[in-house]
Parts: sequence; C-alpha cells; structure tokens
Amino acid sequence: MRNETTVRIPPEEILYQRELSKQFSLLKNRPRTYFIVTYGCQMNAHDSEKLAGMLEEMGMTLAPAKEQADFVLHNTCCIRDNAERKALGNVTWLKEIKKERPDLLIGVCGCMVQEPGMAEKILRQYPFVDVAFGTGNIHRLPELLSKAVESRRRVVAVPDEQSTLIEGLPIQRESSFQAYVTIMYGCNNFCSYCIVPYVRGRERSRAADDIVREVEGLQEKGVKEIMLLGQNVNSYGNDMENGISFPKLLHRLGQTGIPRIRFMTSHPKDLSDALIEEMAVNPALCHHLHLPVQSGSNRILTAMNRRYTREQYLEKVKKIRAAVPDIGLTTDLIVAFPGETEEDFLDTMALAREVCYDSAFTFIYSPRIGTKAADLPGRIDPAIASERIEKLIALQDEMTQKNFATLIGARETVLVTGHAKRDERQLTGKCSRNISVNFEGNPDNIGKILPIKITAASKTTLRGEILEGE
Ligand code: SAH
Ligand code: SF4
Ligand code: F3S
Repeated sequence: MRNETTVRIPPEEILYQRELSKQFSLLKNRPRTYFIVTYGCQMNAHDSEKLAGMLEEMGMTLAPAKEQADFVLHNTCCIRDNAERKALGNVTWLKEIKKERPDLLIGVCGCMVQEPGMAEKILRQYPFVDVAFGTGNIHRLPELLSKAVESRRRVVAVPDEQSTLIEGLPIQRESSFQAYVTIMYGCNNFCSYCIVPYVRGRERSRAADDIVREVEGLQEKGVKEIMLLGQNVNSYGNDMENGISFPKLLHRLGQTGIPRIRFMTSHPKDLSDALIEEMAVNPALCHHLHLPVQSGSNRILTAMNRRYTREQYLEKVKKIRAAVPDIGLTTDLIVAFPGETEEDFLDTMALAREVCYDSAFTFIYSPRIGTKAADLPGRIDPAIASERIEKLIALQDEMTQKNFATLIGARETVLVTGHAKRDERQLTGKCSRNISVNFEGNPDNIGKILPIKITAASKTTLRGEILEGE
C-alpha cells in the first residue's frame, strides 16, 4: 500500500532551491563560512551532510571551528531529555559570541525543532536564533537562509507535515570511502516511550531505483562501505505499491559491486527469514546485526508496544546465529521504564547474558512529552535507575570480553578508517562484525580493506596485525 501521507517534493522545487543557492552565492553581505553541530543518530548525521551540501552550493566553506564560522547550524536530537538540554545549552552559549560578533547567524533544525510547541518556544525564548526549520523541509535551507540574510529578520518555518520524500539534494559526504544511504524515512511503530514517530513522520521508502543508482554512483567513486539507514529498515517497501522488500533491495545492492553493506536499524518484529537467508548468502553484507531488544521482560515489552515477546526475540537470535554463525549482535536496552520491577530488570540482565551481545547501548528511560509512556504511573527512583544501568553496563562489559576472547587468532577483514584515537601511530578500522580493530600499518592503507589477524583484546577494541602476502 502506498502511504497516503507521503508528500513527494517535486523535482522543480529542488531545482528552484538550487537556483536560489546560486543567487545567494552572489550576494555581497552573505556569510562566507559555516559549521554544523550535529546531535543524535546517523539519520541526523546524514541530514547534516545534505545541509552541508546545500551550504557549499550557496558558496560557503566549512569553518575550522564553530567559534570562527559566520553561520552555525545546530542539527538537534530530542530522543532523551539530556540530548535536548545539550543542544539548547550549546545554542544559548553562542548568544555570548553573537554579542561580540553581531553578524553571526545562528540556525537550529532537526528533530527537536519538530516537537510540538518548540517553534513558538524558539521564537519566544531564543531571540538570537536567526533561522529554524524542521526535519521535513531541510530542502528549503537556501530559501530560508536567503530570507534571513536579505531581510535581517528571523525566519522560522516548521511544518506540521514532516512526511516528505526529498530526492536530488547535493550531499557533502564526510568520508570518501564510507557513505550513509537513507532507504526510508520516518517510523510507524509508536513504541510507547519514543518521540521519533512524532518528529520524523510516517514511514516512507525511497524508490529502489533511486537507491540503486545512488549506490552505483558511490561504487564508481571508490566508496568501500555503505550504511543503509532507516528507523526500521525491515519494513522497507511496505508503504509502496509494487515496492520490493528489504531482502530483495539488499540483493540488488549486492550486485552493484560495492564491497561492504551495513544497515540499521532492524526492528525484531519485522526481521524475516528472507532477510536472514540474504545475510547468509550475500557476500557484501557485513556480519553484524543491530537488533534492539529494549527489555527482557514480556510485561515491559508489552507496555513498550514493541510487539514481540522475549521468546520470539530469542528465537530470531537462534535463527540468525544458525544461518550466520560468526554474526556480531548488538542491541539497545532501556532500564527504569515506568513500572519496571526488580524482577523485570533481572529478566533484562538474564537476556543480555543469554544473547551475549558484542556491545549494547544502554539508556535510562527518559519521559518524552506527547508519548504514551510519559503518562504511565510507576516512575522509577533515579537512584535505582542508576544502579540498574550500572549493573547492566558491567554485565555487558563482561559479555564483550567473552566474545572478544573467542576472536583472538581469527582472521578478520578490516576497513581501515583512520588513526587510532589513543595512539596516533596505530591505524584503526572496523571488522565485518563492526568491532574496532587497531594495528600497526602505513597510513596509505586508510580507505582500504585489509586482512588482519586478531592478536589481543582490550576493553572496547581488538588488536591485530596485517596478514602480509594475502
Ligand atoms: N529506530 C530504532 C531506534 C531509534 S532511537 C529502533 O527502533 O531500534 C535509539 C534508541 O534510543 C532506542 O532503541 C531506545 O533504546 C532509545 N530510546 C528511545 N526513546 C527513549 C526514551 N524515551 N528514553 C530512553 N531511551 C530511549
Ligand atoms: Fe522509536 Fe520504536 Fe520507531 Fe525505533 S521503532 S524509532 S524505538 S518508535
Ligand atoms: Fe534523535 Fe531524531 Fe535520531 S530524535 S535519535 S536525531 S531521529
């Protein structure tokens, strides 16, 4: 079924915006440099690459630091309270810089701006913000910024309708060998704790041909690894008439010759046998699956509206491990959901031990206004929440070490991404199952896929050496 709410932005509108970019680049009093501060998930990181693409077309160049930029744009996240506070704090901090440099332009966009009432709040409480727009109209940046610069007035454009599908924006990618490729936008799942469906709109899939064309272009440019993005990639195509399924899309992308394909995020309820089969046979697919479970308690999973049970989840884990024995599993876990008892929490601990993930993102539940869970009784005492998350992190560290130990001596293929953080002389990269591997080597190897023998493990990374002569 085609999703009735999807608003396809006509190509003429994109061309019009790109024309405005050219005109903007000719303005005398325009900002010359930009800096984008990005919060949140890969979706936002990729949106920032599109925003940067537009700003470059408008004739601006990236400033070395935000303090030096003429235009600072904050691409915000509101998934948890701390994400939102951090973004607002940093926007407010720029107010001081603006006192010294009144020409500084400040922009805010992203998920937080799309929250109900936020546009009004920005207008009222953040008078130093020059331009604000939502997640559904990023393509209008050239028009909105032109207005702000030419009229010297504040421009706030936050549509109620954010279910837009936008093709044809310029993209300024951060890396020359890794690339994000969005395959679908939005989310229909309405997990009871989550604000994403409210700020990112309904699910809408990009046409498979558009995705394949984009990936072919990346492959031709020498990109080694793509990360397919969507809040729930497993339901790719469900919103389209004659749409192909996610496993079929992966199959087509495997034929483009791109060496490595990753994807996130998979919702366990939609993880199909066909996807598991494709992961087993498609050599381009990395052996990593991020499969957020959130909780190990059936009672809590129901209250979260996740629509699978602990048993169903474990069954899927069993299936994928049978089909792809060296798969690396990772997850997201929430503690202190309203009403979570000690027993519920122990169910989560037991599940994390049983699955033995390579790593896990652990979160303390954060109430989000407008979501169902925000109205639930049984808020958990913050001290108990902290205790629980610490126990869970300690358990996960133990599981990570257990998995790392099994990899010592193994041959892995690693896409070399740069220098190691702690030791500039070492190189670092990710193996197929998405674990960081550090090793000694020539920086010329950055951007290549190398065979590496794993020799040791530290807390969060593996260590290895290049297998010469392979
Ligand atoms: N679409 C992805 C997740 C997007 S948000 C999925 O369904 O897996 C990333 C993670 O943030 C979620 O998996 C969840 O663990 C966490 N999260 C979302 N809302 C939260 C909230 N209100 N409080 C705490 N953690 C939350
Ligand atoms: Fe949020 Fe659930 Fe959608 Fe993920 S699937 S974005 S957790 S509502
Ligand atoms: Fe945050 Fe929006 Fe992503 S709320 S986690 S940036 S989709």
